[in-house]
Amino acid sequence: MKSFEANSIDLTLTSPPYDNLRTYKGYTFPFEEIAKQIYRVTKEGGVLVWVVGDATIKGSETGSSFRQALYFKEIGFNLHDTMIFQKTNPIPQIYRKRYSNIFEYMFVLSKGAVKTHNPIMIDCLHAGLKLNGTTYKNFSKGEQKRAKLAKPVKKQKIKGNIWEYVVGKKAEDQEAKGHPAPFPLALAKDHVNSWTKAGDLVLDPMCGSGTSCRAAHELGRNYIGIDISSDYCELARKRIQKFQSESEQNATN
Ligand SMILES: C[S@@+](CC[C@H](N)C(=O)[O-])C[C@H]1O[C@@H](n2cnc3c(N)ncnc32)[C@H](O)[C@@H]1O
Repeated sequence: MKSFEANSIDLTLTSPPYDNLRTYKGYTFPFEEIAKQIYRVTKEGGVLVWVVGDATIKGSETGSSFRQALYFKEIGFNLHDTMIFQKTNPIPQIYRKRYSNIFEYMFVLSKGAVKTHNPIMIDCLHAGLKLNGTTYKNFSKGEQKRAKLAKPVKKQKIKGNIWEYVVGKKAEDQEAKGHPAPFPLALAKDHVNSWTKAGDLVLDPMCGSGTSCRAAHELGRNYIGIDISSDYCELARKRIQKFQSESEQNATN
């Protein structure tokens, strides 16, 4: 990353090694150096999505994820949104007087005000319903009251910031086999769609099996993937080539 131009990346979508939870062939992970480089290469208004969880050591969560998020703030990033990646099918755990761990954080950080947001919309449960006669109290503005809501409930609304995905079961995620901790392709596509437009440049500086790159490629964005392991870089390359040859095949059929 040191060789990259400053202010050149629209979105960095990445997931670091979690507290040495898994050993990536013994490589070290200089978090602060990497964080500063990500900030330097991010465009004004660009976004970093940092997908991370904590290890539990001797019964206590490490809290590394929070420390990292606060460090990003210290070096200039804006903590735009703390999102949750909920797993539909989490790995079963041994019961240790705690609830099953079913999520990871997705810290969305921006360099200044976010320049691109294409929000994912979902259907409203009560679309079209007229809430006549409902008393509405806006506590943040004191004791304002409204006799009724003026408009019927909209058809769609912006999705919430807890996103749920099936992990490792879909065919597209099987391609990442050989890597110990890929995130779902659907998660990567949702972030690429949300924070970039076609032709933008997406970076994953710890790309593993290349999920972010594969998503960026599919969605017509440019991408750069880096991993300290040449084996994982090779896995990522093969994954993208497979996608490309399948798309070409489909186009000729
Ligand atoms: C959690 S995995 C990323 C998985 C990826 N999101 C995917 O979907 O396959 C973290 C990756 O960071 C890589 N890594 C560890 N230390 C690194 C470093 N110092 N520089 C670059 N990559 C590193 C590991 O090899 C590993 O592939």
